This record gives sequence, C-alpha cells and structure tokens, in this order.
Amino acid sequence: MGSVLKFTHAELQQKPRLGSRIPRPVHRVPKMVTDRRIDKLIHLLVKNAMVVVPGPKIASEIGVTRFTVWSWIEKLRSLGLEIRGVPREGYQLLTVPDILAPSLVRADLGDCSIGRTIIHYFRTDSTNAMALKLAAEGAEHGTVVVAEEQTAGRGRLGRTWFSEKGSGIYSSIILRPLLSPAAAPVLTLMAGLAAQKAVISSTGLAVDIRWPNDLLVNGKKVCGILTEMSAELDRLHAVVLGIGINVNHSLMPPELDHLATSLRMEVHRAVSRVQVLVALLREIERHYRLLLKSGNLAITERWEAASSFAHGKRVRVVTPAGEALATTTGVDPSGALKIQHDDGRQESLVAGEVVEVK
Ligand code: BTN
Repeated sequence: MGSVLKFTHAELQQKPRLGSRIPRPVHRVPKMVTDRRIDKLIHLLVKNAMVVVPGPKIASEIGVTRFTVWSWIEKLRSLGLEIRGVPREGYQLLTVPDILAPSLVRADLGDCSIGRTIIHYFRTDSTNAMALKLAAEGAEHGTVVVAEEQTAGRGRLGRTWFSEKGSGIYSSIILRPLLSPAAAPVLTLMAGLAAQKAVISSTGLAVDIRWPNDLLVNGKKVCGILTEMSAELDRLHAVVLGIGINVNHSLMPPELDHLATSLRMEVHRAVSRVQVLVALLREIERHYRLLLKSGNLAITERWEAASSFAHGKRVRVVTPAGEALATTTGVDPSGALKIQHDDGRQESLVAGEVVEVK
C-alpha cells in the first residue's frame, strides 16, 4: 500500500542526467520510481529538520547520485522550500515545509484507511478529474488525490474553484461504498460534517454548514465540496468527494472577497495544511464508518445539530427551475433539505443552493 507522489511540475518530471543538455521527454520519465524518491527526500529532510544532513547520506538513503540530490534540492527550492546548502557538509532544512507530501501526511494518519494511498501533484487541472480517472482504472477505496495547485478546479453548479498555489487544500477522496446512487446526498452531508469537525479541531473557529455542504466562517465560505460519482442504476461504483479548503490565502481576489475567506484570514496566523488535511481524512473515516454502521439518520441528525441552516432559516432558494423565498424546516433522512415556501408549499430540495436572507 504505497503512497505515490506525482510531480507534474515540468522541471521535476525531467530526470537530471549529468552531461546531457537535452531534457528527457516527460512521457518517458519513469514517474513512479522518481516520484517516490523525491517524496523520500522531503521526508528525510523533515525528519532531520534543522540539522545539516550530509549529501552522501541523503544520496545513499534515497538511492540516487549526489548530483541528483543537488538537482532535486534546487528544484524543491524553486517550489518554496527553504533549504540551506553547507559546502562540503550537506543540506539543512530551515523551516518545516507545509507541503502535502504523502510521507508527511501519512506519518500522522496511523491506521486510517482513508489516505492509505495518497497521490500528490504540485499542479494538476482538477483533483476530482484525476480521482475519477483513477477510480475508473480501479483505484482502491480511500485513495486520496491532493494538489498544491489546480489549473481548472471544479466547483458545484458548473463554477470554478479558486485554487491558488500552496495556499489551499485541494483534495479528492475515492470511496467505494456498497450503496445505491440514492445514498449520494447523504454522503455529501457526511463529508461536510467531517470537514466542519476537522476545521474546528485545527483552528477553534466557529464553523457553520450551509446546505448541502459549504463551510462558512463569519458568513463567508472557507470550504466547498463537490461530490461526483460513477454509478449504475442501482449501484455506486465509486464516489469522489472533492474537498477544497481555503487555508493560508492572505487575501481573496476582489470578485470573491465578499463571499469567501480563509482560515488564516480568520485566525490571523498561518495554519498547517498538513494538520488540517490529516484531521479531515480522519474525520471522513470516522463519519463514513458511522454512516455504514448506524445509517443515514446518524448523519442527518448530526448535520441538523451542526448547521444553523437546518431549521427556521430564511433563505433564497436557487434551483434550475428558478428562485424563490422560503424557510428551512429540517433535513430528511435522504439528505434533502426541507423547506416551506412563502406561499405555504412544502418541498424537499435535492439539488440547487440556498442563500441566507437577512
Ligand atoms: C463548491 O462549489 O463549493 C465545490 C468546490 C469543490 C472544490 C474542490 S477542490 C478539490 C476538488 N477538485 C476539484 O476540481 N474540485 C474539488
């Protein structure tokens, strides 16, 4: 059960070769081998943080030449890691990097089955797109895809997800529940609940959940979840929980500023992305087990207790059919949001979104 680190950063994909001026074409690089060694390098530096680690020791431990070590160190520096080179002695990591490298995340995951395999990208288009592809190729339950940056992060309702490099957690978790597609909405609520608990335990912030699963801090969004799946009529093949958390953004782009915030902007200090991701994966595992053991109600009741949107909230409801004003009256066991329209009609929402009306 290995962890896989995939660097799509163009430079990292070129295996350094002494004396060669022609970079090796990306498609010919034996990615698996090279990637694991770079992950090992990061792990070794972190394990010996603040100590000068001799170059030859690094080279022999990760099984590459000293030249390759030098070259990878240069590349990691270009990605923001602070590594001091001491001539004829070795390398010293000056600050513990907040990189979602599999070895760093897994070190704190214990026997958690979610995250047993972690696939990491410095840059990808969308971790959900990657996870769906991997799921179709047979990736096991609990496989997690993470990226430092997404170039085409997907949001709900056809929107995009702002995915600034190194600031957020962009993660997709593959689940393989023996359930029917009707279980998808409750899996979505389960993910929101788990993400809420993870953010609270890592920051102490007061976090609300807006149906179906946006996390809000002081009325602004810090986390969004996009659930995608492959299924037959009566059986889910795989569910991908795509979870984006704004962690260390120091400001939001002007067009999002009134809607979104980051954990850092709320707690006024940097927050460890590794720590938040570990908490998230543990909470997903805990809530998923609870769902399988105790059924939908165990999730929907907890969701109702955790969200100010569950009961008595005045909302504008936006669905493909149009917009309407309503008041929320709870969540039903399937995960649908119950609302009472201003004209008295009762409805159970299965899609769309709600916005608080003050
Ligand atoms: C929303 O619109 O609120 C859902 C946003 C989901 C964003 C995450 S980031 C990781 C994963 N990969 C994607 O392309 N989207 C999800």
